[in-house]
Amino acid sequence: MRIGVLTGGGDCPGLNAVIRAVVRKGVGTYGHEFVGFRDGWRGPLENKTMPLGIKEVRGILPRGGTILRSSRTNPFKIENGVEKIKENLAAGGVDALIAIGGEDTLGVATKLDALGVNVIGVPKTIDNDLGATDFTFGFDTAVNIAMEAIDRLHTTAESHHRAVVVEVMGRHAGWIALHAGIAGGANVVLIPEQKFDLGEVVAHVQKRFEIDYSPIIVISEGAMPTDGDMITLTGELDAFGHVRLGGIGNWLADQIEKQTGKEARCVVLGHVQRGGTPTAFDRVLATRFGLQAIDAANDGDWGKMVALQGTEIVRVPLAEATRELKTVPAHRYGEAEAFFD
Ligand code: F6P
Repeated sequence: MRIGVLTGGGDCPGLNAVIRAVVRKGVGTYGHEFVGFRDGWRGPLENKTMPLGIKEVRGILPRGGTILRSSRTNPFKIENGVEKIKENLAAGGVDALIAIGGEDTLGVATKLDALGVNVIGVPKTIDNDLGATDFTFGFDTAVNIAMEAIDRLHTTAESHHRAVVVEVMGRHAGWIALHAGIAGGANVVLIPEQKFDLGEVVAHVQKRFEIDYSPIIVISEGAMPTDGDMITLTGELDAFGHVRLGGIGNWLADQIEKQTGKEARCVVLGHVQRGGTPTAFDRVLATRFGLQAIDAANDGDWGKMVALQGTEIVRVPLAEATRELKTVPAHRYGEAEAFFD
């Protein structure tokens, strides 16, 4: 078989580990051939390809980013997008696609599968918000980066009797804030799933100052106060209808400063969370996903996404995986709340 591989959406550590595993087992065990499609769905849409063999995947296991590059292209927003993809696949003799991506990229894969394209999905996102899988790779790395930042911020905050607000990624799901906040010993964790009461946050912060301890508040970029909405950087939407978030951390630091009379600073971690080398956990998960994805392709088990359930890698229907976002349930948030006072 000749199989195309693409990576779409926001990048995350571990993408190269998946590509490597797919190609190594695909060539070594099954004797398949591969073609790399560049820049997410733009690759098959505009026939942007690159060679993808054993040589190309040497040494990429620890490398962040994606050798295939990425984009947020949505072929369903482009005139005759699906027809163009089908034509390009046929012209290049490509029998199937392995699409590595999050909700948007795999949403496209789900629709293409229904339209007769042979496709296998691999879930990635630092946000960990894809359904049907316990974890996505990239998440563990992002959490570790955020945790290390929080550890460092504790000591500088303490020296200056300051509160520090740490804004992390997470549009609709607060997994990074929750896990980094718990691991880093945050005073307060604020996530998109639970609107927060500013007065209560200020009270938690004040209590910390009273015991001469400088509070760290971890907040997801998509978190909202009870009487407010998400704060956006620009009004522009991407091809999947997402706005660019950002600003809630600075807003909160400003409010804390005004209401407590103490100094507050905001640190926005941003894309630092997505760059660089993956943790061992993410390398292993990404590798296992890649191996299972090429097994599924070899079996002709189209329309499936590989997923981690418990300790096993399983195959689930793509449609099931992309039906709804996996958000933080109230009882998990309660684990962080136990440390707010
Ligand atoms: O979807 C993953 C993610 O990291 C979100 O948490 C974040 O909102 C978004 O990507 C930012 O993406 P970019 O700035 O690359 O468009």
